Formats: sequence, C-alpha cells, structure tokens
Amino acid sequence: MSNGTFPTTRMRRLRQHPVIRQMVREASISVTDLICPIFITHGQNIRQEVSTMPGYYQWSLDRLPEEIDAIVALGIQSVLLFGIPAEKDALGSASYSDQGIIQQAIALIKNRHPDLLVITDVCFCEYTDHGHCGVLNESSGRLDVDNDATLTLLAQQAISHVRAGADMVAPSGMMDGMIAAIRQGLDQHHFSHIPIMSYSAKYASALYSAFRAAVNSAPATGNRKGYQMDPANGEQALREVALDITEGADMVMIKPAMHYLDIIKAVHQQFPGVPIAAYSVGSEYAMYKAASQLGAIDEKACVLEFMISLKRAGASVIITYHAKDIACWLAE
Ligand code: PBG
Ligand code: ZN
Repeated sequence: MSNGTFPTTRMRRLRQHPVIRQMVREASISVTDLICPIFITHGQNIRQEVSTMPGYYQWSLDRLPEEIDAIVALGIQSVLLFGIPAEKDALGSASYSDQGIIQQAIALIKNRHPDLLVITDVCFCEYTDHGHCGVLNESSGRLDVDNDATLTLLAQQAISHVRAGADMVAPSGMMDGMIAAIRQGLDQHHFSHIPIMSYSAKYASALYSAFRAAVNSAPATGNRKGYQMDPANGEQALREVALDITEGADMVMIKPAMHYLDIIKAVHQQFPGVPIAAYSVGSEYAMYKAASQLGAIDEKACVLEFMISLKRAGASVIITYHAKDIACWLAE
C-alpha cells in the first residue's frame, strides 16, 4: 500500500482491455483438445437417441458415416468408440471377435477418414451377460472378477482393435496389471508403436448411470466398487498413476472429471510431462443438458467454463459428449 490507503498493486489493470485479458490468460481450450465418444450398434438405419443423454445417439454402421463426417467437418481430430454387441456371454467374446461391432466400425472409419485418430475403450462390461468389467469366478468362495484371467482377454481385445486399425487403446476396467498385459500383447504382435491411454484413476462414481443406459452395461448384480476407486481417495490415485506409468501407459486418464479436479491437478504436479486426459462422463453431460432445458443455466457459457477448469487443472485432452457442441461454439 502507498498513501496509507490506496493499493499500488492493481490486479484490475490487467482486466480492463480485452486484448490484455487474452494476453495474460493461462489456460485455453481448442478443438484439438477434444475427443468425441461414439456409440455404435448393430442393425440397419439406426440413429437412436439415448434417453438419458438428449442430443446423443447410438449409430448403426450404415448411418455412422454421417456422424463421422460431421465430427470431422467440425475440426475434431479424435474419437473414442464404444460398441453395443448383438450377443452377450460370460466372457464377453463379441469384444474380441474380428467381426465385432467395434472392429467393423474402426475399419469403416479409417477407410473413410484415415487421419481421424481412432481410440477404443477396452473393457468387457458392454459385452458380458453379467455386466462386469471382466470374467467372473467363484473359486475363492465368493463371486468376484477374476483379475488375472481378465488380463489375457483384455490383451486379446486390444490386439483385435489394433489389428482392425485402431490408433490407440484405452483400457477402462481398472484391473491390476492391465497396462502391462496389454503392452506385452501389443508388442508381441508388432504393435509396439501403438500408445495406451489408461483409465488410471477411474472412480466408482454415481455419474456413470447415463452412460450405462446408453450402452446397456449396468452390472446385473453387485457394483464396481471392487475394482473402481473409492471417491474418498485422492492420494491413492497417485499410486494408480505411478503403477500405470511403470507398466507402460503413455497417457493417463482421470474419470469422472467434474468432481475430480483436485486429482487432475495432483497428478499434473506429481508427474509433469505425463499427458492427462480428463473424461467428462455421460451424467455430467446429462446434468448440463437438463439444467439448460430448465432455463437454469446458459449451457454454452457453463460448459466452456467447465472445460477451461479442466485445462487449468492440468488436463491435456478432454473426452466429452459436448465435443461437437464445443467445436461449434469455438468456431462462432
Ligand atoms: C466401461 C466404461 C464406462 C465408462 C467408460 N468406459 C462405464 C463404467 O465403468 O460403468 C463411462 C463413460 C461415461 O459414464 O460416460 N468400463
Ligand atoms: Zn467396464
């Protein structure tokens, strides 16, 4: 303070002129930061709106080109694929069939837009009849996901995605050792150049319900608390990330995004240089859409503010169902 009363340091001087505001801005969001999820289903002529996610659709392969073309036209450079199989079984075998829905979709997309980065979610919950993220086993006397039996199948699924043309795989099942198993499987099949984006810190969140309705992947019995992280834990996320990096993860993901900004920040500070993906999940999208339909929020302003908060926290890329909306807003 000078003069006893008036401040000499005036933060407001940097806020007066829009050009200066822009010059001193720390975080930014661009269309190249966005990864757009896509739900793909069997059948003909399907563009089925997801009941829990207004404005979001399941696509059949024959209609998929119109969605992919729209995504590319908006300047989005990357997609994350989720499949809805025709048949489910105990092992989720449709997930690693060369004729599986994802394998067909990858081939179609890469054929149409070779430069579009195709990432695949690698997990079993959409494909198993019991809806869990791996093989179930009762040998220990209690029904549980068999971690190590699942690893072999995860590697098989990842290899089949990459064989079909996937550019990157994103295992989401929270099995211990999944990154090492997938890395080894890919390397043995001459795919050592293919990166892995690990869902490293994936929480047992209540925010997945919109998505589970979209792909019909809710567990028939029980829940995922035996493998996904407890929302009360922050430091444990650093152990998860450290393990995944050691096992060979090229990028790490924090999921969900909205309630986990502290985790993004902590991982960014603890592991500088490790690219972080923030996954804003289906129910986050649903909440913004619902609030906007009520007239309670300005969807564009709120979503852009949310996106900036993720970048500010340390995310390099953002997976969001708002990707197309954001691409439009940024182009305005
Ligand atoms: C599969 C998977 C899930 C999501 C991405 N991959 C769901 C889950 O764990 O139940 C969530 C995506 C979203 O909620 O938008 N393991
Ligand atoms: Zn799963």
